[in-house]
Amino acid sequence: MSPVQLFPVQASTMAPDVDHLLYFLLAVSTFFTCLIFFCIFYFAIRYRRRGEKEIPREVEGSLALELAWSIFPALLTMVMFVWGANIFIRMQRPPDDAIPVYVVAKQWMWKLQHMEGQREINELHIPVNRPVKLIMTSEDVIHSFYVPAFRTKQDVLPGRYTTEWFQPSAPGRYHLFCAEYCGTKHTGMIGWIDVMEPADYQSWLGGGRGTGTLAEGGEKLFQSLACINCHHLTDQGRCPSLVAIYGQPVKLSTGQTVKADEAYIRESILNPTAKVVAGYQPIMPTFQGLVSEEDILQLIEYIKSLGQRPAVASPTNPTTP
Ligand code: CUA
Repeated sequence: MSPVQLFPVQASTMAPDVDHLLYFLLAVSTFFTCLIFFCIFYFAIRYRRRGEKEIPREVEGSLALELAWSIFPALLTMVMFVWGANIFIRMQRPPDDAIPVYVVAKQWMWKLQHMEGQREINELHIPVNRPVKLIMTSEDVIHSFYVPAFRTKQDVLPGRYTTEWFQPSAPGRYHLFCAEYCGTKHTGMIGWIDVMEPADYQSWLGGGRGTGTLAEGGEKLFQSLACINCHHLTDQGRCPSLVAIYGQPVKLSTGQTVKADEAYIRESILNPTAKVVAGYQPIMPTFQGLVSEEDILQLIEYIKSLGQRPAVASPTNPTTP
């Protein structure tokens, strides 16, 4: 590695594409900067005033010239637009087989949870050559999850879920930064992404097993918070059954239809009367202050896992109180 490094290493599948676009933008900017400076000096000398009495002769417009300097830059900017939009759209769409990881940001740390139950702080272990999708939210203010080596950055907002994905292309340890000023210790809100060989990752996953998967944690919460008393696994409860609800359209008492995604489930836990399901009374209390953002993520995972279960009661989940 050279002592002076202009760019961070390229460690994701997206990194070369982003860099190529940047090189193109730099080349275009450099070319036009030089051209403009050359013209300024050349014209200043070539057409300078040579005597007190000199009166410049009148200049007629040139249609060809005007068309040229309108059409050529327009085409050039369209190239930038299409090229950039293409990369942007690919960055916005995580592949279906991406490994999901939950991220909760707070002043001033990153809390990460794997589906298998592992929790990490300011460190993320992931396998190389596999797409990883982060589902992120914040407990307080706006943060931004930025990994320069991956060329990806996404704001992390309180009260909302944002996603970011990348596919690491080389094993190693890469800097993680918070890229949104978030208070006194913003500069200390840093960490590492550990990209591991698949075998190392598997042994890491096996080693750090803690308190069960996220969905299992969510199931415990579902019982300890007494959600189960109203939300039965059949439609006989006082509240709607949550079986296979994730990702499905939900009909509301207002006649509207919403999709039961992460944001809807989160809102329904914290502000249950905001969107009441058609045919049910708004009897659910709010769980604001009773559950943390991490608890909500576990509950969401549990509700997602209900999607794969049969719509009848399983022995571990009694349907009658
Ligand atoms: Cu978090 Cu800056």
